[in-house]
Amino acid sequence: MARNARHEMLARPDHDEAARQDFVVALKRGLNRTLRSTNDALYSTLVEPGLRQSGSGAEPTREAIRDAMYALPAYRSWSALNRGAQELMWDAVGAPIRRERARLESTAHRLASQRPAGGSLELNRDFTPPRSVTAVDIHLQPGGYALDLGDGDITAGALYEAGGNHYAFGQGIGRGDSKARHVQRFIAARWPGFAPRRILDLGCSAGSASVPYALEFPDAEVHAIDVGAGMLRYAHARAEALGAAVHFHQRDCTDTGFPDGYFDLIVSHNLMHESPDSTRRAMLRETWRLLAPGGIFVHQDVPLRFAGLPEAKKFELSWDTHNNNEPYWEVYANADLAADLEAAGIPAALAWVGHLPQVEGSLPWFAAAGAKPAS
Ligand SMILES: C[S@@+](CC[C@H](N)C(=O)[O-])C[C@H]1O[C@@H](n2cnc3c(N)ncnc32)[C@H](O)[C@@H]1O
Repeated sequence: MARNARHEMLARPDHDEAARQDFVVALKRGLNRTLRSTNDALYSTLVEPGLRQSGSGAEPTREAIRDAMYALPAYRSWSALNRGAQELMWDAVGAPIRRERARLESTAHRLASQRPAGGSLELNRDFTPPRSVTAVDIHLQPGGYALDLGDGDITAGALYEAGGNHYAFGQGIGRGDSKARHVQRFIAARWPGFAPRRILDLGCSAGSASVPYALEFPDAEVHAIDVGAGMLRYAHARAEALGAAVHFHQRDCTDTGFPDGYFDLIVSHNLMHESPDSTRRAMLRETWRLLAPGGIFVHQDVPLRFAGLPEAKKFELSWDTHNNNEPYWEVYANADLAADLEAAGIPAALAWVGHLPQVEGSLPWFAAAGAKPAS
């Protein structure tokens, strides 16, 4: 399934809104694909020689690099524009969602009542989303992932899907294949013939990754969890609109409440880089508890690994932590996933950490995966 699937839960931008959205994508592309590389040249010509000289040739620290780069008007301008482009993006994708809120909510209501695909939605009024999600509007999404404007509200999910598409395309990421499809290809190559009966997608957001599992494994029962009610209402309606039977639940990935050994395929997509160490580690323990004998798990994420990188590269990659409300970006980049898997009780011989095969020039997505012995 293409990552930008069309369906009736998408807001329909009018002419001017579409023009603004196109502008944002072009601006982001220019800032990230073209201008970002000139930052490397600024560093190697204007910053590194001086820092090396004052440090007797030693590799400069990230803090020294940061101070020196932000002292350059050219870098500060790029950084401010990049931040501005992200704010502009949310404004541009939010406009049609706000204008069409009544239509989107009534469409969601109809799809949730009729459930043409046979999925379901379980919200929990007593559930309190974790502070790791509510304390910060991750990558500046207005209101954050757990935004809930009351009964029937779908704003968080609508923003997430529309923002995600523009964010990715602004960086030039292809429309060809979803992250879930990469995981499915990986599973098919590594465990040929695997046919799960129950699947769980952790941290599902708008369900963009959950739906492809329901379509790929139509005989399986597919469950997906997230902490945000507004996200889940949208995900449920979207899945129904796309003909995918997915059972959505408002639950925490560190303590899902499902029985031991309930699932034979457990996945997550881009959850780890938006979680603190404690959540990621607890999520891995929960994965192992939930996995049935013979089951497989694949936690896919961005290819952001700091081990072995020069400090200047780490500085460049950490822009999002400091400017784009990504507090766990560097936490994830520094994480030792193999050690985390072992600490979660998953024997090293049964675990795998590495890059997923690329498809059509896609990002080389990263993953932590493993399989439980059949008996
Ligand atoms: C980057 S988004 C995931 C994107 C999604 N999997 C996809 O492929 O489109 C991270 C999601 O994880 C959810 N999340 C964060 N912490 C969580 C937790 N402890 N339990 C469940 N979901 C969580 C957030 O609410 C957010 O929707």
